[in-house]
Amino acid sequence: MKILSKIPLRSLAMILLLAPLVPLEANDVNEVNIYTHRHYPSDEILFKKFTKTSGIKVNVVQANADQIMKRLEEEGKYTPADILLTVDVGRLTYAKERGLLQPIKSKYLESVIPSNLRDAEGYWFGVTKRARVIVYNIDNVDPKTLSTYEALTDEKYKKGILTQSSSSVYNQSLLASIIAHKGAKEAKIWAEGIRSNFARRPTGSDRDQMRALAAGIGKVAIVNTYYVGQLINSKSFSDKAVAEMIGIFFPNQGDDGRGTHINISGAGVTKYAKHRENAIKFIEFLASPEAQKVFTNVNYEYPANKNVAPSKLLQSWGKFKEDKIELYKLGKYNVEAVKIFNEVGWY
Ligand SMILES: [Fe+2]
Repeated sequence: MKILSKIPLRSLAMILLLAPLVPLEANDVNEVNIYTHRHYPSDEILFKKFTKTSGIKVNVVQANADQIMKRLEEEGKYTPADILLTVDVGRLTYAKERGLLQPIKSKYLESVIPSNLRDAEGYWFGVTKRARVIVYNIDNVDPKTLSTYEALTDEKYKKGILTQSSSSVYNQSLLASIIAHKGAKEAKIWAEGIRSNFARRPTGSDRDQMRALAAGIGKVAIVNTYYVGQLINSKSFSDKAVAEMIGIFFPNQGDDGRGTHINISGAGVTKYAKHRENAIKFIEFLASPEAQKVFTNVNYEYPANKNVAPSKLLQSWGKFKEDKIELYKLGKYNVEAVKIFNEVGWY
């Protein structure tokens, strides 16, 4: 495995600029080049495991999601990237729409990844799931009083809600799911209601929302589950203490509820992949039980492979009903979600 992330961006740009001059088209080189936004220890373990089992060398470029997308667009057919690995379906659908990916056929992926977690035409596949849940301060909220995302717009949560800014793609996808289920008008009423109950101006990461909650700010926060896992297993004493003050609640579970909003990390083969077969093998490896166990044990994500159970920790949080909406729809409503956030002043 070769990690290029430590190379300064300017040098990296130079390397990529020179890329067409070196024999990247040489398909006989048994390697696969990955552009990834994910930056978790689980992935480094998986890159090594893949090389060990397949003999295929893995080269990795890590950068933030927007940089990766921009780079893929700018490099066009000269890109060395074979795979785009990123989080949130909004980004994967964007990549598809911008012509950065190509469709692939894989009987294995189609059999183990549920259809709502992958693109119908094979442009991208979910490899992990994450639930966006309500977490609460166990000292001042009785979970019996919690029910749905919609109920958080109630007066009783005035100055009570912590969440990220609207630039968070996780919040954009949550709002997109409400647009998809209930229409833009209802979604706007929801966003307005949440904004009017903010405990503070949205700032920071999902983990920061839980740190604020534990510090006595607000009552509930909207966060992705794996960040709770990260706090529980943190080396930081104070973050461990934060985790002890937090309870997890899966919203919208009632008989008439649509289920808790979930999203994915996913991968697609780039349009100009020079190592297409290796790229397909790599995505199939990510979906395999061996890799799925690493995702759930090391990064606290839910397996996307329907035959693999979540880790013991995740199981301890309880079973829950998932919103089964086809995730591509969240990408479809992303622009509208951003517009609504701006209109209601959730910045
Ligand atoms: Fe994240």
